[in-house]
Amino acid sequence: QGCKLVGCGSAVPTLKVSNDDLAKIVDTSDEWISVRTGIRNRRVLSGKESLTTLAVEAGRKALQMAQVDPDDVDLVLMCTSTPEDLFGSAPQIQKALGCKSNPLAYDITAACSGFVLGLVSAACHIRGAGFQNVLVIGADALSQYVDWTDRGTCILFGDAAGAVLVQACDSEEDGLFGFDLNSDGDGQRHLNATIKENEMDNALGSNGSVLDFPPKRPSYSCIKMNGKEVFRFAVRSVPQSIESALEKAGLPGSSIDWLLLHQANQRIIDAVATRLEVPPERVISNLANYGNTSAASIPLALDEAVRSGKVKAGHTIAAAGFGAGLTWGSAIVRW
Ligand code: ACO
Repeated sequence: QGCKLVGCGSAVPTLKVSNDDLAKIVDTSDEWISVRTGIRNRRVLSGKESLTTLAVEAGRKALQMAQVDPDDVDLVLMCTSTPEDLFGSAPQIQKALGCKSNPLAYDITAACSGFVLGLVSAACHIRGAGFQNVLVIGADALSQYVDWTDRGTCILFGDAAGAVLVQACDSEEDGLFGFDLNSDGDGQRHLNATIKENEMDNALGSNGSVLDFPPKRPSYSCIKMNGKEVFRFAVRSVPQSIESALEKAGLPGSSIDWLLLHQANQRIIDAVATRLEVPPERVISNLANYGNTSAASIPLALDEAVRSGKVKAGHTIAAAGFGAGLTWGSAIVRW
């Protein structure tokens, strides 16, 4: 059993926030942000927009491109670290898409690696369990978890959603050639948004005997990041991961038509491309317009590249995600 990518879509919020806008709320400048990151604008949720509305719009566009009816979807994978419901947002997306067949729908939480994990999970469901049409959505609204007074992080992130429809096909048509997935909990200290520690053990008194009941509901702290460590990790691990995926696929580096990395920092993208000897004209980048949109960045950039005619049918793409967890992974796919 093979699987192939047959449609993509994306959606971004209306509100555009420029580097100059950010310079009004934190001590930064357009020059610092664009030189260090390549980012110029990002989109931020406002008004009636929500993560679900973006995800549904992206998913609908992917289904339209693939000419697949929502009723024929048998699995919705929502890759997000910012669900609107702690119990998972995928079933709400399934409902809003109007999938009357009630396909299985669940969330995958892996921050900026979420979409690559979703893609590989879709392939596993198709190859191992007979699923036919799997809608993989990557969507995040990190603007809701950013400390807007921390200039080291608030300049980086934006909100968005992207989607790809993965479909069962004959093995000769198979479009997922190889993949490589990793995680390292030790690196979590460099990038996290955890439950506030002093709120975790609040059911017990200080001597361990007094029960403070009912317990307080804990809250999450904002994103905390050691940018330099995350930068080093990405530049070291991503080329290794892509090389490993290529090896598993039995393909040489020269077979890559497009390098499509998680859009975190232009300097990371350039460094990985240099290490893999992929020339700049074969590298997809749109983070100048959207910043780091976490799980959405790869399908958002793919959708733009497909719709603009850059990525054409039959092209081979090396896609790689990396980020919090730490998690990272690559997939070599054919569009
Ligand atoms: N504007 C102006 N100055 C700033 C800003 C800012 N926005 N942010 C930091 N600075 C200052 C610092 O205070 C520091 O000043 P100092 O030298 O006086 O102490 C100086 O600039 C250098 O700061 P660094 O943090 O060393 O800057 P660096 O070159 O490392 O760039 C950046 C920071 C852009 C965050 C970079 O490290 C980076 O992109 N790292 C990767 C982050 C990433 O990719 N995360 C992806 C995963 S996200 C996820 O999974 C959810």
